Amino acid sequence: MANPIKKRDLLLIGLAVIILAFLWQAPPESTSRVPFDDDHKPYYELVKTDGKKAAEKFCADCHNEDDLPFSAEHPSKSRCLFCHKMQRP
Ligand code: HEC
Ligand code: HEC
Repeated sequence: MANPIKKRDLLLIGLAVIILAFLWQAPPESTSRVPFDDDHKPYYELVKTDGKKAAEKFCADCHNEDDLPFSAEHPSKSRCLFCHKMQRP
């Protein structure tokens, strides 16, 4: 005996799984991560102790028009760590 309500529920669950899988995959891969090298290691510590907003204040020390210019396509230059994730949790 087919039960139409259960069938619809299964379809909705299937759809939800597909959407979740898509959301899970897309964002982390789309933007480059902050390298875990000598330049950036201090900020991994600072994020842990003082938070992202405190660490971001120092990004522009190197990432500025004179030293390491952004590409012309680079979006908003505030809140670096909102888009660029750290390599490790
Ligand atoms: C001491 C100088 C310095 C500081 C401060 C610094 N960076 Fe960098 N950053 C570099 C250099 C040099 C590179 C390019 C070489 C490399 O990959 O390490 C780089 C590369 C990057 C990349 C990789 C881009 C790519 O193409 O993969 C990201 C993302 C980045 N930095 C984000 C940040 C953020 C966010 C901060 C602030 C928390 C920050 N940086 C602070 C020097 C710095
Ligand atoms: C609104 C999201 C967003 C914010 C905020 C942001 N970035 Fe980016 N950034 C990107 C994207 C998208 C790219 C291009 C694709 C990539 O390399 O990941 C990029 C590229 C870069 C690159 C590689 C070189 C380039 O210009 O393409 C560096 C270095 C970088 N960002 C550093 C920073 C720093 C430092 C900050 C803060 C001052 C910052 N980003 C803020 C999204 C962002």
